[in-house]
Amino acid sequence: MYKVASIGGDGIGPEILDTGKQVLDAASEKFGFAIEWRDFDIGAERYLKTGELVTEDEFTELKNYSAIYFGSIGDDRVKPGILEKGILLALRFHFDQYINLRPIKMLEGTWTPLADKTPADIDFTVVRENSEDFYVGIGSRFTGRESVELEITRQLYSIKFGLDVESDSDEIAYQIGVVSREGSERVMRYAFDLAMQRNKQLTSVDKANVLTDIYGLWRDVFTEVAADYPEVKTEFNFVDAVTMWFVKNPEWFDVVVTPNMFGDIITDLGAMIQGGLGLAPGGNINPEGISMFEPIHGSAPKYKGMNVANPVATIWAGSMLLDNLGEHEAAAAVLSSIEHSIAKGVTTKDMGGSAGTSDVGNWIAKDILAR
Ligand code: IPM
Ligand code: MN
Repeated sequence: MYKVASIGGDGIGPEILDTGKQVLDAASEKFGFAIEWRDFDIGAERYLKTGELVTEDEFTELKNYSAIYFGSIGDDRVKPGILEKGILLALRFHFDQYINLRPIKMLEGTWTPLADKTPADIDFTVVRENSEDFYVGIGSRFTGRESVELEITRQLYSIKFGLDVESDSDEIAYQIGVVSREGSERVMRYAFDLAMQRNKQLTSVDKANVLTDIYGLWRDVFTEVAADYPEVKTEFNFVDAVTMWFVKNPEWFDVVVTPNMFGDIITDLGAMIQGGLGLAPGGNINPEGISMFEPIHGSAPKYKGMNVANPVATIWAGSMLLDNLGEHEAAAAVLSSIEHSIAKGVTTKDMGGSAGTSDVGNWIAKDILAR
């Protein structure tokens, strides 16, 4: 019996998450375990009513769960950044989910915008650093002169910046990116370990030719960690170049490790080459703690409640959740039934089919039980 927290969130989030839960319930029935769900009412609706994002009580309560299954957040009525930072990033940071694992894998029977590429060509994994870089949340906008003390406190370290900025410009804005040795090393070790289980190739992404301090450190740490993995073939790619190669030669990649912000950007590109955002799952992983699984797409408010959203990314994220719980067989069955549903043409409109969100969930759940 596993206790799993579910957070539907906004827009299409609740309906795709319901579909995912249905599939995971079918998988647990089939493979002899059980999931006890607890829904958390976290999202825009509650924020607009009460001003609450994630409460202290909820953070405390969430500690009692084996994993978190997350739908999506984002709502047109709320200023950009509030829900993203106050909910999604707050959860990632609070539980120190320092790995953002994003498989870029084209499933059999799906479409890719890349001419002449097949599932044999598009099958790699991006390991995105998930706790540092330009996501640490330090910055401000101001006019004239500003003296501030800025502080970040993380599990790994705390840093204080004392800034005294004076500017003649009408207005300036700055945002500070932070990369630490420990933060880089832990995500790189995870990526090397993963590469060891795959094809033993690891690409490190950075922009060390311009952002020489933060990505210079990133590069040094990568070189040091690589010495412990002599069997893994490594290379550096600048982030601008990596976007070209994802498009032209995706078959070159096996595992890719990247700082947070570049990882955000290149995984949307990755999602598109694997067939679209509706197919791209992600895991926010703390190997020693509580991990959280979600589709990488947003809340698509205009499709809310219409039963048209593609639930595959969420169901696939559910498969990753099962894997994380150690239910490897069940996890593989979920992914295989996703592929089966695609082969049978049970797909939503974005994939050229006519099935509704719940049809896809019902079909996959049944397929798992019929194994
Ligand atoms: C993602 C999203 C988030 C990110 C946003 C919603 C905070 O784009 O998961 O890729 O930037 O990490
Ligand atoms: Mn993103």
